[in-house]
Amino acid sequence: MATTLSQYLAREESLHELDPVLARLITSVSEACKTISHKVRQGALAGVLGLAGTENVQGEDQKKLDIISNDIFVDAVVRSGAVCGMVSEEVPEVMSVPDEFPVGPYLIAFDPLDGSSNIDINVSIGSIFSVMPAVRPKRTAVDADFLQPGRNQVAAGYCMYGPQTQLCLTFGRGVVFFTLDPSTGTFVLTQEDVRVAPAAKEFAINCSNMRHWEAPVRRYIDELLAGKTGPRGKDFNMRWVAAMVAEVHRILQRGGIFLYPRDNRDPAKPGKLRLLYEANPMSMIMENAGGASTNGHTPILDIVPEKIHQRVAVMLGAREEVDLVTSYHKA
Ligand code: F6P
Ligand code: MN
Repeated sequence: MATTLSQYLAREESLHELDPVLARLITSVSEACKTISHKVRQGALAGVLGLAGTENVQGEDQKKLDIISNDIFVDAVVRSGAVCGMVSEEVPEVMSVPDEFPVGPYLIAFDPLDGSSNIDINVSIGSIFSVMPAVRPKRTAVDADFLQPGRNQVAAGYCMYGPQTQLCLTFGRGVVFFTLDPSTGTFVLTQEDVRVAPAAKEFAINCSNMRHWEAPVRRYIDELLAGKTGPRGKDFNMRWVAAMVAEVHRILQRGGIFLYPRDNRDPAKPGKLRLLYEANPMSMIMENAGGASTNGHTPILDIVPEKIHQRVAVMLGAREEVDLVTSYHKA
């Protein structure tokens, strides 16, 4: 018999003392993901494609589906009664829980729809989430409460809206995947003990930024591109989906390394991806799958955030590759 998400959470409660409040939060997140998945699949039929005509705090154009997904996430999380604050890529300030709903002992940060440039072209996109303990449980959260290193996360995951809708989840005891059964609307456990091979022969990076990269990343990628006759002595394949969820998902399935390094264009931007709701949850997942994650100098999970929407350089995936690119940053 297949194990459903709710059965899995019940098992975690009894075997590993998973807090039932945290289980409730994950259930609420999974409900949000189901609803978003439904909207994504309707696309133009539901009139959800195209621009919303607004910008997010990072100055990026918001798509209609970015806003719709954010509203779905906020609504589901607020009703869980499990959090006392939320940070979303789509909202500049920390969001509190409206008075009519109970507050709980957790903080959640999320990217409600990752890979926005893929929305209108029907290519994989996803939602990413990170759960931390509240510093002052049940008190309305402020920015400072969220400035904890990713090591403090008690749960992290993503949902990918691809040919199948798949939920990836970790509580710090390995990584599991669920697949949404469209006929029953239930997430079913389809893979346990997900592992990333330490060695890799595939990489993902946006090479159009090559001229802006710093020397260690340029050296690393040059050596991969040199292939069999270069210093690495083997050929490497390349992929770029332009949705972090899809790149991480591919690495969890068949290995590799993903890089979005900092570059020299804008000193105020130390990378493109956001620490709280992109880099941290994906790094917790990678480490729990036996992989690694760094900004080139420090493991992502050890970085103490200074701002809720802080950006960071990210290099994650196969441990040997992450170690090598880290060593080039020390050279
Ligand atoms: O959220 C930012 C993001 O969309 C990631 O999902 C993805 O990895 C990256 O940006 C794509 O960047 P680019 O536009 O450089 O391809
Ligand atoms: Mn994103």
